[in-house]
Amino acid sequence: MEDFDKAIGVMDSGVGGLTVLKELYGLCPDENFLYFGDTKNLPYGEKTKEELIEIVKEIFDFFEHKNVKAVVLACNTTSATAYDELKDKYSFKIYPLIQIVSKCVAKNSTLSRIGVMATQATINSHKYKTELQKNNPNILVYEQACPLWVPIVEKQLTDYDEKTAIKGYLDKVLEFNPQKIILGCTHYPYLLDKISKYAPKDLFINPAKLFAQYIKEDMNKNNMQTHKKCGGITYFASSEPENFKKNAKMFMEIDSQPTLVHI
Ligand code: DGL
Repeated sequence: MEDFDKAIGVMDSGVGGLTVLKELYGLCPDENFLYFGDTKNLPYGEKTKEELIEIVKEIFDFFEHKNVKAVVLACNTTSATAYDELKDKYSFKIYPLIQIVSKCVAKNSTLSRIGVMATQATINSHKYKTELQKNNPNILVYEQACPLWVPIVEKQLTDYDEKTAIKGYLDKVLEFNPQKIILGCTHYPYLLDKISKYAPKDLFINPAKLFAQYIKEDMNKNNMQTHKKCGGITYFASSEPENFKKNAKMFMEIDSQPTLVHI
């Protein structure tokens, strides 16, 4: 098989990365995607950097075995913690979310105050702040961890106190008076309707569109796009594949149950 006709791996801890996959598949419908939802190790946001490096290594080994041409880290937390350590250790191209999205956002020269809402591990790494300021040193960044949000999405919780769980985190960011707030976890766009009860929807950036557009352009530039016309998506999950299929509905309808993969 020619290199450009190989599949593209996409990974996240659960269904959140589907926000990225949906955009990417929309832009590149001829590509073959392998989506890995690491439901066994969820939530990533509570894990240490060392634990996350070990987990991502196992998923990258899985993708290497599948002979992919590229891997999309559709996950802020692992872009922040594991990418730097692993980026030169594999033969496929790796697309890290935070590094790419920060570059796209910082290009907009009208932005000087940005809020970031993300998992605890992402916030601890200060990766958004570092990457945004690397691209534009004049940007001020306020970072807020939202540890309750991934469990709310993945467990489909409804019995939580919105004032604490949603408004509580948001109020702290709004005090900073940001021009934009990055939803720095791929699970968060699901909560946007709830979040935007307390602030205008257009204040928030869902990085999925920017990220997918960058990947498509980069693949075209590097002649990596497939020449075939038989794209599709195959799903894998590290636990409870039936639950993954059910939860996936939040973001996109998936027609087949993921294959269970033990990592
Ligand atoms: N959705 C991932 C992210 O973008 C990880 C969420 C988690 O499992 O804590 O960071």
